[in-house]
Amino acid sequence: MWFSIAIVWALVMFIMMPLWHVYGKQNPSTETYKVTPADFQKDVDAFIAKYKVGEEKGVPVVAPPPGSDIYLLAKQWSWSPVLKLKKGVTYRLHLSSIDVLHGFSLYPLSINFMVIPDYEYVLTITPTQAGEYYVVCNEYCGLGHQQMVGKIIVE
Ligand code: CUA
Repeated sequence: MWFSIAIVWALVMFIMMPLWHVYGKQNPSTETYKVTPADFQKDVDAFIAKYKVGEEKGVPVVAPPPGSDIYLLAKQWSWSPVLKLKKGVTYRLHLSSIDVLHGFSLYPLSINFMVIPDYEYVLTITPTQAGEYYVVCNEYCGLGHQQMVGKIIVE
């Protein structure tokens, strides 16, 4: 009986996977591009140089203009830069890793996204609430994994 329940549940989940992808709100629809770690690092460096307004614990704080393309880089074991965004404004968030697999997890909201090296993900986001959000890595990525916490500030 347990075996049958497991089979039926596996089938239900199998059918739900594509349905969740289309109708589920937890799957952000994305644009994905191939990118080399060096090229992504270059784009992030240029972005930081252009809009840097400060520093927090050695991580640059960046205040990009409303509605622009913004960048977040994952590497062992940090997220860079700290993003300062405006409430109610839509941004295009470019996300990639320059070394290993990391997990983007936005706290205290439950937004999760896998960040795989060599791919640049573009998520269209509109922050709806002001506050400080933390980007926690939720994929084990080495010894410093539990210290890998970034920040997004919405004003
Ligand atoms: Cu990055 Cu765990």
